[in-house]
Amino acid sequence: MAQYRLLLVDADPLALQTIYGILGGNMDLELRSASSGAKALELTDELPFDCILISMELPDESGIALCQELRNRSSTKAVPVVIISLINSEANIEASFKAGATAYLTSYELGTRLLDVVQNILKKQDMRQGRTILVVDDAPSVCDIVEEALTLTGFTVIKAYNGREALKALESVTPDLIISDIVMPEIDGITLLKTVRSWPEKAAIPFMAMSAFSERSYLLRMQHMGVEAYMVKPFNMDHLVMQVEQILANNYNMLLKKREFLERERGLLLGTITSLVAALEARDPYTHGHSENVANIVSQMVKIAGGSEADVEAAYLGGRLHDIGKIGIPDAILLKPGPLNSDEMQLIQQHPVIGAHILEPISSLAGIISIVLYHHERYDGTGYPNRLKGKEIPLWARMTAVADVYDALSSDRPYRPSMSIEQTMSVITSIRGSHLCPECTDIFMEWVKQQEFFKGDIKKTE
Ligand SMILES: [Fe+2]
Repeated sequence: MAQYRLLLVDADPLALQTIYGILGGNMDLELRSASSGAKALELTDELPFDCILISMELPDESGIALCQELRNRSSTKAVPVVIISLINSEANIEASFKAGATAYLTSYELGTRLLDVVQNILKKQDMRQGRTILVVDDAPSVCDIVEEALTLTGFTVIKAYNGREALKALESVTPDLIISDIVMPEIDGITLLKTVRSWPEKAAIPFMAMSAFSERSYLLRMQHMGVEAYMVKPFNMDHLVMQVEQILANNYNMLLKKREFLERERGLLLGTITSLVAALEARDPYTHGHSENVANIVSQMVKIAGGSEADVEAAYLGGRLHDIGKIGIPDAILLKPGPLNSDEMQLIQQHPVIGAHILEPISSLAGIISIVLYHHERYDGTGYPNRLKGKEIPLWARMTAVADVYDALSSDRPYRPSMSIEQTMSVITSIRGSHLCPECTDIFMEWVKQQEFFKGDIKKTE
């Protein structure tokens, strides 16, 4: 399916080819055509469109009349319309915008301007999509007018008729922008703004104020309090929509930059982790690939358990790093082929604590330190380093413990060869509820069911 679906309303059969020639090579689009206003209305009843291009000269009505009809229908009222005309007439341009057109082009401008105009329109549409605006005013008529103008532009609007209702709405929704009146009964706009700014999860929502006060000192005070824009009543709706788009575009660009920064930081972090794990695995060939296996299994288990994308990512990083503290264990102990004496055992049991210390200075890894520190705790309280019991052990550390035990048993170790899958599964089942968390073991079993290589193995043994 193409990214965008456009409709061209034009009686000229060659127009479709011309428009596709201009747009098709630069955009992923599906271009439909209708030869009259009536056919266009039929088609817009059947399919949603991202933009409609209308020729001014249609056989059954003028392009402007069709534009007006599209604006009056609920399914098309927010779809941008570009009017294309043979004539560059001021009167036509004005009538087109009055009828709700987003742009007006003459046929002679198509080659030079159409692509830019359509791309800009679609970019703005993308920016508006899924954007929610909370409109607060004790005058229902103001709320309704602002709602209509913003809905028509493609935004989703939530209305509140005073500050108290707005705060109630904010408990369940985080809008992309708040537009609020200042003078309201009970909780006024200034109290609303202060409350939003002191609310950690809501503090970054841009705030636009609207009021009849127009004194400079008042506007400056509002600006000082962190208001992004101030509209003096009565205001022009087109001006309001333009201000809203400007604020959201700035915010959108800021979020994009923040995301790029976080992605770069994540890349650096993954590079560092890979180097740390490579340093450990270069010393200890028996654990080669172990961290990667544990990371893959535990992250898939978290996904099965319904974890968010961020949870899955954290579990993966935790798995990659769970044994990183072994870097601090001497070769003589780490690589010893026989069983360890009690002193050596005590030392190797320090690896979760050493690992947690290594990661402590890296603030972005704060959330996974508990995985590293507690992956050897046992559900019955006989593990190390803190002998935590049951659900005292953080959930992701309990999940990692199951994946860790599975991979350790099914791989070769200095002191024993690997177990078969049947033996491994029977050991895991036998320690469910003692060594391993029962719920996490069940999630692991779900993961096992999804693995093709297990299915193959089970078939072979049948
Ligand atoms: Fe470990």
